[in-house]
Amino acid sequence: MTILVTGGAGYIGAHVVRLLQESGERVVVVDDLSTGRADRVGEAPLVECDLAAPEAPELLERVMREHSVTAVVHFAARKQVGESVEKPAWYYQQNVGGLTNLLTAMEVAKVDRLVFSSSAAAYGMPAVSLVEEKLHAEPINPYGETKLICEWLARAAARAWGLRFVALRYFNVAGAGWPDLGDPAVLNLVPMVLDRLERGERPKIFGDDYPTPDGTCIRDYIHVRDLADAHVASLQYLESAEREHDVFNVGTGTGASVREVIDQIGAVSGLDVTADVLPRRAGDPPQLVASPERINTVLGWQAERDLPVIIASAWEAWQAGPRRIDV
Ligand code: UFG
Repeated sequence: MTILVTGGAGYIGAHVVRLLQESGERVVVVDDLSTGRADRVGEAPLVECDLAAPEAPELLERVMREHSVTAVVHFAARKQVGESVEKPAWYYQQNVGGLTNLLTAMEVAKVDRLVFSSSAAAYGMPAVSLVEEKLHAEPINPYGETKLICEWLARAAARAWGLRFVALRYFNVAGAGWPDLGDPAVLNLVPMVLDRLERGERPKIFGDDYPTPDGTCIRDYIHVRDLADAHVASLQYLESAEREHDVFNVGTGTGASVREVIDQIGAVSGLDVTADVLPRRAGDPPQLVASPERINTVLGWQAERDLPVIIASAWEAWQAGPRRIDV
């Protein structure tokens, strides 16, 4: 029995690979290494492949048969909102095309369990304080659209040939479960702040005139290690589930503002984190916080690590990497 992890050389995927390996599971990784790194997957066999390429279904099918794969955790995808607005066709081709190829191979190889990386971006701009899964999902950019369409595609496969899947809608993932597995891409708030501090520059706040207590946007920050645990819980759920498919938020239910995150980075690092306030960034909802009630109840999973732990782990990983900040 082996678990196939697509995108297992990436930031979140590598955490799940390591967690599975530490619990004695056999893992095989498929990754195109466009943003992932081979040294993140440990002893796991690594097959280099772009999931959206025409040859992918055949190659994936072969990997599944050779390694006796019983379940797939699917991370491999593009995840930059701004880029998805610039290149919508490519995002659909990569994200929806990638899952299409994966499901084609899974059906032929008779692998019927899938845990899929979805996103809170599927919700768009919800005007509620706590987002529940039953809320009508209305994504506001191509990235969020591809995640929602992938959920629909998996649901259609569930009906057509018995795929059993869990889609996990991640909220704002940050931190590091191991110091060598920090977030290397400077795309999100925490690494963007650390990157600017490292350059001797001030952090940036994109808007402080939102209808929130301190005027900055509120998000639900989830420790990447907690998120990795949610994948393991999902795999266990699929072993015994009576339901063929399910969608869960993965968040804490507690929000933190941009200012609170930056202040926490200051507290952990001892650095001066005085920030520059810039105009609002297009497409940012003022608040996006998960109701984690369903995943708490159905999977028995809940986040164990709060914002100070998230930031401390992100700082430790940043300091352990090639881009240290002198304090
Ligand atoms: N922000 C700043 N300064 C920065 C970077 C970010 O003020 O230097 C602000 C943003 O404007 C936003 C908040 O910090 O208000 C969080 O921004 P991120 O870019 O870290 O995250 P987003 O909430 O925009 O999006 C992230 C992922 C998406 C995912 C979403 C789910 O990038 O893929 O969380 O909540 F869908």
